[in-house]
Amino acid sequence: MQIGPYTLPEHDGAALFVAPMAGVTDRPFRQLCRRLGAGYAVSEMVTSRKDLWNSLKTSRRADHSGEPGPIAVQIAGTDAAMMAEAAAYNIARGAQIIDINMGCPAKKVCNKWAGSALMRNEPLALEIVEAVVAQCAPHGVPVTLKMRTGWSLEERNALRLARAFEAAGVAMLTIHGRTREQGYKGLAEYDTIAAVKAALRIPVVANGDIDSPEKARQVLDYTRADALMVGRAAQGRPWIFREIAHYLATGEHLAPPTVAEACAWLTEHLLDHYSLYGEASGVRSARKHIGWAVRGLPGGETFRQHMNTLESSDEQWRALRDWFDALAQTFERLPPAAAAAPDDATEALDAEACVA
Ligand SMILES: Cc1cc2nc3c(=O)[nH]c(=O)nc-3n(C[C@H](O)[C@H](O)[C@H](O)COP(=O)(O)O)c2cc1C
Repeated sequence: MQIGPYTLPEHDGAALFVAPMAGVTDRPFRQLCRRLGAGYAVSEMVTSRKDLWNSLKTSRRADHSGEPGPIAVQIAGTDAAMMAEAAAYNIARGAQIIDINMGCPAKKVCNKWAGSALMRNEPLALEIVEAVVAQCAPHGVPVTLKMRTGWSLEERNALRLARAFEAAGVAMLTIHGRTREQGYKGLAEYDTIAAVKAALRIPVVANGDIDSPEKARQVLDYTRADALMVGRAAQGRPWIFREIAHYLATGEHLAPPTVAEACAWLTEHLLDHYSLYGEASGVRSARKHIGWAVRGLPGGETFRQHMNTLESSDEQWRALRDWFDALAQTFERLPPAAAAAPDDATEALDAEACVA
């Protein structure tokens, strides 16, 4: 699988990507996913608004130190010239691939006609793609794009847009099988993704509701996509990538990680997380990762509530390690997580995180 000059690792004909999730897929989390089988990771979105580039949030998002290549940065905005400038800004900071966001449904983004709202304004969407491609081409930087199936069921224009984007020089397309109107509700559909894949020569990535090795196999067989992208199912379970990779390659399930392995990965991730965010912000923002990691496990909810009262990284880190040590007294391997309640936080987090 190629994105411009970059070759990505494949498992039985498909590459595995971790989805960009603002507020989640920061550098430490991307590195964890890549270590556990994801072959590629796009960074969280960076706004095209220049006035926000000096904010702590944006400068953290544009920091790729120590990250394995290719470094892919997602940009979001509504104005073609500003988007081209954002591409140049990120290339100067190490981006090797620029990804355009036409998938985010958050209102604050949509009110400004960014994210998936751009799919409703096809001339503007194409103008943005052309401007970004023109900016990136002289640097040899491929431009990729992520979108939904359309604005609504009645306005599913992904195929028309995909053809136009390919003709404009886009090097890879990712499609989340939902419309803008669906947000994160309902089920992702894969017919549109299959139709786009059949019509295009550039690589197409299938995304939406891939939450198990079997589902990965089904989506791959149905869409014939070149890569699969996993978002929410990797939250707290980043080893899903190696489980999918193993299943695609062998048709058999990899045993769940041992509790000791999971503990080692997650506690190491915490240390990386604190070093990017610092003490106060690190402790606060680590809570969601810890909450996802213990979700559905025996005693996980009680632990999560206690952990949310801890205010120092040292206490938080030790509490997680001790909790896993206690779990290891009963289970050698991670037990299956009980079906967790739907994550109500998804949309709020997305809306909040998408802005800057
Ligand atoms: C918290 C959160 C933040 C997200 N942020 C972004 C983003 O910055 N850019 C983007 O293209 N998609 C974003 N998405 C959408 C995901 O990349 C992905 O398309 C979606 O979650 C569907 O895949 P999944 O079912 O595997 O989670 C976000 C999703 C979530 C849940």
